[in-house]
Amino acid sequence: MLQLAARPARGATRMGAATQRRVIDMILVAAPGIAPVRGGTMPGTPVWAYGGRVPGPEIRARQGDRLRVLVENRLSEATTVHWHGIRLPNAMDGVPGLTQRAIPPGGRFRYEFDLPDAGTFWYHPHQRSFVQVARGLYGALVVEEAAPSPFARELTWVLGDWRLQEDGKILEDFGNESDVMHEGRIGNFVTINGRTPEALVLRPGERVRLRLVNAASARNFALSFEGHNPWIVALDGQPVTPHEPEDGRIVLGAAMRADIVLDGIGQPGKIYRVVDDFYEHGAYVINAINTADGPRETRAPSPPPPLPGNALAKPDIRSATRVEMVFRGGMEGNDASGAMRHRPLTMEISPDRRGTGGQGTGGHGIGGHGIGGHGIGREHDARHGSPFLVVRRGKTVVFSLRNETDWHHPMHVHGHSFLVVSHNGKAPRHRQWRDTLLLKPREAAEIAFVADNPGFWMVHCHVLDHQDNGMMAMFRVV
Ligand code: C2O
Ligand code: CU
Repeated sequence: MLQLAARPARGATRMGAATQRRVIDMILVAAPGIAPVRGGTMPGTPVWAYGGRVPGPEIRARQGDRLRVLVENRLSEATTVHWHGIRLPNAMDGVPGLTQRAIPPGGRFRYEFDLPDAGTFWYHPHQRSFVQVARGLYGALVVEEAAPSPFARELTWVLGDWRLQEDGKILEDFGNESDVMHEGRIGNFVTINGRTPEALVLRPGERVRLRLVNAASARNFALSFEGHNPWIVALDGQPVTPHEPEDGRIVLGAAMRADIVLDGIGQPGKIYRVVDDFYEHGAYVINAINTADGPRETRAPSPPPPLPGNALAKPDIRSATRVEMVFRGGMEGNDASGAMRHRPLTMEISPDRRGTGGQGTGGHGIGGHGIGGHGIGREHDARHGSPFLVVRRGKTVVFSLRNETDWHHPMHVHGHSFLVVSHNGKAPRHRQWRDTLLLKPREAAEIAFVADNPGFWMVHCHVLDHQDNGMMAMFRVV
């Protein structure tokens, strides 16, 4: 029943030498369907799905391959597909009203692009995503390294979050004000690969690569693997020095990914819990690990070798164009009078003159429009405003992010992977390239990237209700 194992995409061709560039051709149909979200004998849940299931088919390709996906829209409303984390040509980015016209019901659109980076990515609509993702439209996109995998087994867990009624149907209160002002649409039913998982069985001593994808509309996860010491080997698809997570928890803000390595080091017959305790108000068991019987290795496993890095341009921080983004609003805690305040969430964007190399804000740096403004209107009404920044290709950009709200915001940049320069004033322990960074309440971070991909690119919060209500902006690389 349970499909925890990675499987090749339908229509994927798997021939040719590792070095030979292949074209992966497929058709992806977005349509209403029924999914066994609650499992067992419970009635299925009406969903919107890619390829008739949630998550949609896992698309697997190899680094350097070309992906050609014909998307067919059989939904009752327009849609697009965004290939989250892939550094692709702008016209393939799937942002309605900006990079393409939304695909109308009954319409089709062909996405075609090369896959420059190996890693764990995912795909989802960028049209009314606070509805469409919450209804089940998402899937994993795995780009394998050119070299054969050093791991005995590769698995993918796509984490999903549902807000279900008693009868198992999705509660259709999308975009309600409370979600918008608070932490977004947090559900009441979590799934792995679209269902309640059966325990993961590891063979003694085996080494498994587990690709974690947070496809929830708003929920963040912090996973710990009892009795196992997972190694983090990649974040958001980009390799990182293999290391054990701080305090043993693997934190995945909405849209974030982590590749971890698990060793079969448990006692046979014992059940180990996988726990999510991101939110203070309740840790729960999300899955379990069993170890099969067999000859056992007594030595502790050594760290896995680092994955080969992708070719990302190195930012030149000193000469960077710097932009400050401050998040404000949402519901705010008690002030002196004890009152709660509701304010729309905003992203206030302005040239940042505090940093070094402050000359970066002159000249062709910041465009006049959008500055000092906030988000650019609702995602689906195609008014994307003007770019808050127009930057020459090849220039380094630093975004200085400051979260002055009481809520979590996983911030995502399109078309580029960025280097985390600092998080709360400190450089990360291991060099991190990401496409999404989680800012906890009152946190600050600096991220940097070389703007080497021409076009119009979004920056937004991946709490999809926040994205749709002001936490979204756009910059342009020329
Ligand atoms: Cu995963 Cu702009 O999105
Ligand atoms: Cu947010």
